[in-house]
Amino acid sequence: MMDRFRTIIEPFRIHAVEPIRMSTREERQTAISAAGWNLFGLHADDVLIDLLTDSGTGAMSRDQWAAIQHGDESYAGSPSWFVFLEAVTALWPFRHVIPTHQGRAAEKILFSVIGGPGKVIPNNTHFDTTRANIEATGAEAVDLVIAEGRDPSALHPFKGNLDVAALEALLAARADDIPVVLVTVTNNSGGGQPVSLENLRAVRAVCERYGKPLFLDACRFAENAWFIKTREPGQAGRDIPDIVRDMAALADGMTMSAKKDGLANIGGWLALDDDAIAESCRNLLILTEGFPTYGGLAGRDLEAIAQGLREVVQDDYLHYRIRSTAYLGEALDAAGVPLVKPFGGHAVYLDARALLPHIPPLAYPGQALAVALYIEGGIRGCEIGTVMFGRHPDGSETPASMDLVRLAIPRRTYTQSHIDYVIEVVSRVAARATDLRGFRIAEPQPSALRHFTARFEPLA
Ligand code: F0G
Repeated sequence: MMDRFRTIIEPFRIHAVEPIRMSTREERQTAISAAGWNLFGLHADDVLIDLLTDSGTGAMSRDQWAAIQHGDESYAGSPSWFVFLEAVTALWPFRHVIPTHQGRAAEKILFSVIGGPGKVIPNNTHFDTTRANIEATGAEAVDLVIAEGRDPSALHPFKGNLDVAALEALLAARADDIPVVLVTVTNNSGGGQPVSLENLRAVRAVCERYGKPLFLDACRFAENAWFIKTREPGQAGRDIPDIVRDMAALADGMTMSAKKDGLANIGGWLALDDDAIAESCRNLLILTEGFPTYGGLAGRDLEAIAQGLREVVQDDYLHYRIRSTAYLGEALDAAGVPLVKPFGGHAVYLDARALLPHIPPLAYPGQALAVALYIEGGIRGCEIGTVMFGRHPDGSETPASMDLVRLAIPRRTYTQSHIDYVIEVVSRVAARATDLRGFRIAEPQPSALRHFTARFEPLA
């Protein structure tokens, strides 16, 4: 099955198609200017290839659409809840599973309970919503990824690993302030890079020494498990669900966005073993999300997620998924475009700081590159850099550790010819990189998560 042929075929046929509206360069120039040069402000039908996110934008399978017809909308105790619960706990056997409408709702609930002023929460790299939800409680979010994980070109099979010595030092200094240790699999904000089982074991051992719970931000757990299977010594012959259960066994809980490796368009959950914390979380859930057997979801969503969880751990799917992302990365690398390497599971990250050395970080090279890709070819990527992470709660601004543009690949959605087109567009923009100009952000800026709604002004 594996790599006997060079061409990776999509392990599916297409059953329903969605039209892409073709647009001209001039139309796109007008559209992005009207959107304040913010790609989040576009009408999505003005986008040709939408690589803004892999979150909730994938195609569901025939069997997921069929499962939707089984959705039971009972307010309490719906059969769909039990289908969901069984699918979740088959992989993640935590005592409590709390369904939410998406990952950030799980974060909001968890950190409302265990965060607060004076608290510190370490992670390999916090995703933007995770950091924002922690900071919204007055707590501090600290990134402790290994040094290779901050260097776009450093090769390491598990660049998402958490720096165990740094964690140990933080715990030694501030154990009383640390309610939980998080590890994000895969490490999205650090380039979609995986975390090894060995690293999880080492983190777990430190947590145990200090009596701290370890939670996974498990959005892309199946992709992470595939990297473990294919890169970690001794893991090659194993079934993906077994590797996932090994990850689960090392953790005390998880937050999850089913919009990623749940293969669904909406959904998430919080799962954990601690009864008292679970009780407080459920009380908040009822206030903001819903009754504990549906959270923020319809019964049909619970069914779609359950079926998605059965599909996402299949070897044929994951082989295609990871290889097809690497296909994009390898071609751009061959074209001389600076990239985060190795390539991530769900996305390829262009190194805008390296491509655009004439644009200083505070003039947002990632934004400049993302806008250029849109104007050139209608491709919508996402800046992950100083726009997203540069501004601090006190209003000050410093360069983020990297200025990247993420080309995130929705699951099972685009074909190889779409990706070949992306390769052509990115290569063309990279060839005239010196023409690109930076941006400033119009005042007043949004107070949190500014990248979603800020308006930009092109610099002369
Ligand atoms: N954690 C990680 C690592 C994520 O990548 C995301 C979402 C979340 C938490 C929040 O989940 O969107 O369901 O509320 N990431 C998306 C992205 C939005 O584009 O990377 P959510």
